[in-house]
Amino acid sequence: MKKRIKGILMGLFMIVILASCQSKANQSKTIIRVGHNQSQNHPTHVGLLEFEKYVEERLGDKYDIQVYPSELLGSQTDMVQLTQTGAIDICVASNAILETFDDVYEIFNLPYLFASEESYHHVMDDEGITKSIFESTKEGGFVGVTWLDAGSRSFYTKDRKIEKPEDLKGLKIRVQQSPTNVKMMDMFGASASPMGFGEVYTALQSGIIDGAENNEMSLTDNGHGEICKYYSYDMHQMVPDIVIANYNWLNKMDKAERAIFDEGFDVLSAAQRNEWKSAIENAKKEAQEMGVEFIYPDQAAFAEVVEPLKEEVISKNNKLQPYYEKINDYNEEFPAKEAN
Ligand code: GCU
Repeated sequence: MKKRIKGILMGLFMIVILASCQSKANQSKTIIRVGHNQSQNHPTHVGLLEFEKYVEERLGDKYDIQVYPSELLGSQTDMVQLTQTGAIDICVASNAILETFDDVYEIFNLPYLFASEESYHHVMDDEGITKSIFESTKEGGFVGVTWLDAGSRSFYTKDRKIEKPEDLKGLKIRVQQSPTNVKMMDMFGASASPMGFGEVYTALQSGIIDGAENNEMSLTDNGHGEICKYYSYDMHQMVPDIVIANYNWLNKMDKAERAIFDEGFDVLSAAQRNEWKSAIENAKKEAQEMGVEFIYPDQAAFAEVVEPLKEEVISKNNKLQPYYEKINDYNEEFPAKEAN
């Protein structure tokens, strides 16, 4: 808790400093602060720069969009809280941490929820599914405006190869701060260490944790592959990133401007997803050059261990069933291509 308050204070401090550095020329414009936790090489940053360009080309006399990467405005949880209060306007948050803001977000944190990448993309592109989820936090001060690809998450470790679920037993694995993730690790017999993304490198290096789980970019872009030499494609989750915006700010904007911002959010999502595939291919190559070994275990064995979690979460939260049914319709339409 102390850490969180410190993080928020740091974020606010940064904003005050940044605000006081604005040039006079900008003083008549409204500054829109956008924060995320990835590097400037990441598809998310590339997408946000496209968003900035799109909106400023149309409304540049009125708005100055400023994109802050690399947790400059705080950790993801800090940034969500800053977006709630309107201290910043937009940020990118993993769906994982949003479940503590409204439990309807639990749905996309379930392991082995999507049968295929195609199913995942169709679900996330279906406003009949996402709109009500994205609006669930209105009263909390923010809404989701679009989603970004964050690939699939798999385990990676320092010393022990994960070839079957039992290999996780007794290991300390970093997860995102979500109760569903902690339960998932319990089922695998591992010990979950929830922490923010920016803390993972040091935790791995100092031996506080034995491994983590994420997409391939964390090996290269965040340097985790310098320490973890085994990446095991169990692909337990496809957790989207959600772009969220302060609700009051969006809501009071005039209609024509709002339409441009909405188009900008579509531009952002398309540009980010367009970059994603090649970014992952490059990360994999680069990780191999760093000496990371990629392992291809039987995914069904991992899925079997955590299958009861789906039922447990869905039966406890009656909001989730209708979404689950729609997701399963897409799973039937876009089944897994081949057994791994
Ligand atoms: C991915 C995801 C981020 C998230 C990170 C994490 O990189 O895109 O939004 O913060 O995983 O594991 O915390």
